[in-house]
Parts: sequence; structure tokens; C-alpha cells
Amino acid sequence: MTKATMKAIRIHRRGGPEALVYEDAPIPALQPGDVLVRVHAAGISPAEFTWQIWETPEGRSRLPLIPSHEVSGVVVAVAPDVRDVEVGGAVYGLTDFFREGGAAEYVAVRATDLAPKPRSLDHASAAATPLSALTAWQALFDHARLTPGQRVLIHGAAGGVGSFAVQLARWRGAHVIGTASARNVDFVRKLGADDVIDREATPFETVVHDVDVVLDTIGSTIRERSWSVLRQDGLLVTIVRPPPPEWVAGRAVRGLFFIVEPSRTQLNELSRLIDAGIIRPIVEAVLPLHQAREAYERGIRDHPRGKLVLAVVGENGGTR
Ligand SMILES: NC(=O)c1ccc[n+]([C@@H]2O[C@H](COP(=O)([O-])OP(=O)(O)OC[C@H]3O[C@@H](n4cnc5c(N)ncnc54)[C@H](OP(=O)(O)O)[C@@H]3O)[C@@H](O)[C@H]2O)c1
Repeated sequence: MTKATMKAIRIHRRGGPEALVYEDAPIPALQPGDVLVRVHAAGISPAEFTWQIWETPEGRSRLPLIPSHEVSGVVVAVAPDVRDVEVGGAVYGLTDFFREGGAAEYVAVRATDLAPKPRSLDHASAAATPLSALTAWQALFDHARLTPGQRVLIHGAAGGVGSFAVQLARWRGAHVIGTASARNVDFVRKLGADDVIDREATPFETVVHDVDVVLDTIGSTIRERSWSVLRQDGLLVTIVRPPPPEWVAGRAVRGLFFIVEPSRTQLNELSRLIDAGIIRPIVEAVLPLHQAREAYERGIRDHPRGKLVLAVVGENGGTR
């Protein structure tokens, strides 16, 4: 590769979407184990600017940084020690939260964090998958160990994580209860939920009881209100923010918070389910890369169904 710079979305100061700029940035250098991906599409998480993204775990400032940590694209270079990913392969994956993200023409990613793109998806739909689907998978199967016949309550069931969680819990054979706003009730039922509660019309805790697992994707008061719907020894999994240390003290139920981790093995399993038509990503809209600010603002304002995606490569093969 002869180019040294690329088009990217960057943020130079702590803030929100208003601080995003579309500009030239250095093409990321490969570290051992990395591959360089020409990004075709990148999924966005509207809440990203509320995460602890501004410093590395060692406390160094990351500014300016490139947001968005789920991508679909084509491998254009590999580090000398990478043997299992080839140049030219179409891949998708969740990238390290403390490295430059995917809202750019190129992203350097650990090869082990990528998997072949599902054959049945275009890049935009593939980019809508890794963060949300891996989070749903790890919440339900790694942490909650959901089994067939168990009852699971999924808050925010129409959102990015929630829409995958409904489909995966259904596939596992659980009894799925979702909460959503009125406009999304039918949508969540079609995703596979057995019962859907209009969160604006009915306080969920008045109609839901004896649940084995709650998945909280919303935060606010939802977490506290959810304890009462759990059966004894039931588990509340929250993904929104770490709770205070004493949050489960004295309760007959369990609770945990976790942060999603990349996993090629799980991406391969998700691809298999997607290509078999068992689960599917939900893409509310695809915007060109240079409209990233609008995409994040829309995500924060409108609570879209599933995901908003940035298209980086246009139909003519150029950057958008
Ligand atoms: N810990 C982790 O590893 C991890 C991983 C991924 C995401 N997250 C976090 O999990 C949360 C959900 O992520 P997501 O991508 O699924 O978000 P999302 O796509 O924005 O979904 C959130 C859904 O919750 C519902 N909702 C209800 N009350 C809401 C409110 N006050 N504000 C916003 N939405 C509300 C909305 O649907 P209705 O309008 O139908 O109710 C919306 O579709 C975010 O905070 C994100 O940062 C954490």
C-alpha cells in the first residue's frame, strides 16, 4: 500500500456527535497478529461517547480517536505472523475498544477478532452484527447459561442488542418476553418473542413474574425495577454500566455486568445461524461515512430498530 492517509471520522475532544469531524488520518500501522481491513461498512453504537473510551487502560489520552468498533470489509494486508487470514478475504468483526475504530477507510484489527463475513449478508448488514450479536450471545449463553424452557425478559428488545437477544433466546428454546415502545411491539413479536410488553402502557413488573433471566439493555430505573420479576436464584444481566459493589447484597437473586469480548468462534456460530436464516441483523438505515455525525445524532434521538450503519465504500467503489 502506497497511501499514508485515509478518510476517517475522528473526535478531537471529549464530547458527543457534534464534535465528530470527517478528515484525513494516518492509515493505522499493523502490530503483530494484525490484519488491515479496507472497511466497507461500520456499525455505530449511539452510546459510544458515554463509554470510558477517552483513555487507554494505562491512562494515556486516546484523542483524537476514531469511533465505531464493528466492521465488515476486505483484508488488504496481514502482519508477517498471521497465517489464518488471507488478503482478499471478506471479513467481519468486533474491534478492540481501545484501538482506532472502524469509521474510516481502513482499520487494523487482531486477526483472531475477525471471521469470514456471512455469505448471505452484504457488508452493511454484516457490520450491524458483531457488537450486538456477540453481546447478546455472551449475555444469554456465557453468563446466564440460558437453557430451553427457561423464561427470559429482554428489555429494549427492538434495539441493537435486544433484537439479537430475542432471536437467540428463541432459537435456544426459551420463553421470550420483550419490552419495547408501542411502535415496536409487533416488530419484536415477529422477531420471535412470545410476549411483548408495551413499556409505555404497562409497567412490566405488574405483569411479569418468575423469570429465570433478565437482560437489561436500557439502564435507568429498569435495573432496580427488574429484581422483583426474577424467581429465586434468577439472574439479572445488565450491559449498560457497572453497578455499585453492594447492588445484589441481601437479595435472593444474582446480578452481573459484563463487557463484550471479541470472539471468532462465536462469530462463526452466528454466521452459521445467519446463513441458515435462523437469525438476522436489523438495519434501520445506512448513511455514508461523511454523515457519521447525523448517524450518531439520529441514534441518540430516535432509538432506531436494530442498528444504524455507516457505508464507507460507495457503489462505484470509492469512499463515501
Ligand atoms: N456492556 C457491553 O458489552 C455492551 C455492549 C453493547 C451495548 N452496550 C450498551 O447497551 C445499551 C444498549 O445498546 P444497543 O446498541 O442495543 O442500544 P439501542 O440500539 O439504542 O437500543 C436501546 C433500545 O432500548 C429502548 N429504550 C427504552 N428506553 C430507552 C431510553 N430511555 N433511551 C434509549 N433507548 C431506550 C429503545 O427501544 P424502544 O423505543 O422500543 O423501547 C431502543 O431501541 C447501550 O447503553 C450500550 O452502550 C453495552
